[in-house]
Amino acid sequence: MSERRFVGKVALVTGGSSGIGRATALGFAAEGASVVIASRGVERGEAVRRELEVLGAQAEFVPTDVSQGEQVEALVRRTVERFGRLDCAFNNAAAIDVGVFKPSAEFNEEEFDGHMALNFKSVWLCMKHEIAQFLRQGSGGTIVNTSSVNGLGGVGGNALYAAAKAGVLGLTKSAAQEYAKQGIRVNALVAGGFRTPMLEGVFEQVSPQDPSAAEAGFARLVPLGRIGRPEEAADAVLWLCSEASSYVTGHSLIVDGGVTSPFR
Ligand SMILES: NC(=O)c1ccc[n+]([C@@H]2O[C@H](COP(=O)([O-])OP(=O)(O)OC[C@H]3O[C@@H](n4cnc5c(N)ncnc54)[C@H](OP(=O)(O)O)[C@@H]3O)[C@@H](O)[C@H]2O)c1
Repeated sequence: MSERRFVGKVALVTGGSSGIGRATALGFAAEGASVVIASRGVERGEAVRRELEVLGAQAEFVPTDVSQGEQVEALVRRTVERFGRLDCAFNNAAAIDVGVFKPSAEFNEEEFDGHMALNFKSVWLCMKHEIAQFLRQGSGGTIVNTSSVNGLGGVGGNALYAAAKAGVLGLTKSAAQEYAKQGIRVNALVAGGFRTPMLEGVFEQVSPQDPSAAEAGFARLVPLGRIGRPEEAADAVLWLCSEASSYVTGHSLIVDGGVTSPFR
């Protein structure tokens, strides 16, 4: 381990029980932070909490549905009760409802509202309560929100997810402008393909007989020739939360193995 950039800092990671969130929570812990992770499933959340403690971190899992305002408010409150403050927030939880890939006009209103609550409103709710805490502390803070390359270029068959992830960029850039003077930096991770349960679920849906064929097809589109490791996304998030990025705010950091580079 080369650096300990987060000694004395308190980090909150939503969706910290799996994939990119888990890798980032472990990264924060390895670099000295106290870490709160939030997600719905208790078993996976408690398992990752134990992994964080094995790294020597103080850690807590708070069962939370990030689409519910009272639960998000309680999450931030619990973080401050336990650790006294909040320094870094990674608003990362999201879900693709596998099984609902279809053209835009075929979604119903209930599906629209559900997608937006889970993948868009949730990020606003987290920012709302985290920023309020940062302002109470008066010492700034960093926020990273997880968007997607689908939020840049859309995706046939999953328009609602794409729209939510595009919205996340709007929230990110707006808040970055609003709170820069108070020392609050707000940036986005624009994720390409990373090997997580979410992406594996997509491959299984696209190619139920042979998910590895779907994966190989995707990897062929990536200039670096492979799916990313969650730790490679985590490294970008940790940089955006660290002092090394102190002049970076309102940025959409694309980490995608080059997949969108021909279109940028
Ligand atoms: N993997 C990729 O290729 C990829 C590409 C682009 C963007 N992303 C984005 O990266 C982020 C992380 O995805 P991932 O691939 O790491 O997925 P993942 O492994 O499926 O993890 C998703 C995490 O979010 C939690 N979560 C889902 N719904 C939640 C809710 N309503 N409230 C609280 N927690 C919730 C899950 O736990 P519970 O289900 O137990 O709540 C889990 O901890 C997401 O924003 C995703 O859209 C991923």
